[in-house]
Amino acid sequence: MKLRYFSHSAFQITTDAGKVILIDPFLDGNPTSPVKSDEVSADYIILTHGHGDHLGDAFKIAEQCNSLFICLNELGNYVAEKGFQAHNMHIGGSHNFDFGRVKLTIAHHGSMTPDNYYAGEPSGVILTIDGKSIYHTGDTGLFYDMKLIGEMTKLDYMLLPIGDNFTMGITDAVKAVELANPTTAIPMHYNTFPVIAADPYEFKREVEAIGKKCRVMQFGEEIEL
Ligand code: NI
Ligand code: MN
Repeated sequence: MKLRYFSHSAFQITTDAGKVILIDPFLDGNPTSPVKSDEVSADYIILTHGHGDHLGDAFKIAEQCNSLFICLNELGNYVAEKGFQAHNMHIGGSHNFDFGRVKLTIAHHGSMTPDNYYAGEPSGVILTIDGKSIYHTGDTGLFYDMKLIGEMTKLDYMLLPIGDNFTMGITDAVKAVELANPTTAIPMHYNTFPVIAADPYEFKREVEAIGKKCRVMQFGEEIEL
């Protein structure tokens, strides 16, 4: 499986079988993404919540690729009202798709869409694909149940925000890594805008200081998991 990072909270997973999954594809309006929406394709689009910097170009991409959305029920209803296909889920639920398993988790944040529709609660997502588990926390503050999440699923990768202001900052994110106990932490949601400026290498040093691994992905970089 391959993981590509576009910057902000936008990732692309390509499974060994060639299925492509986008998470929170905020590309065209994202000043740090080296890739734009007409350069990507997606079989599935996972949205963690309805904010514009996560919904991003999802509709444009789904229009191009006939992608299936996977998201929380209320957000899925919003997606369906816009004329797209959604598989609705809710917090705590898991479902097997042809690429792997998806489970939604809590996140402490908001989820209003750019056109002011209430899209339910925000979420995080745990993906189990090709024998590995990836926890994308979505936008969230620190919460102690991350410990429970890490106990219920042995996490290989944890993708988590470090940019502060709207989400965890570095200090809380390091604590989140300690609680969820993934093999490798990957920082996200930083340096997109001045208000979320953060040094991912400071995060990496602090994660390594508690004996955990951290991989800082460059914007546009793809790695093999
Ligand atoms: Ni948000
Ligand atoms: Mn955000």
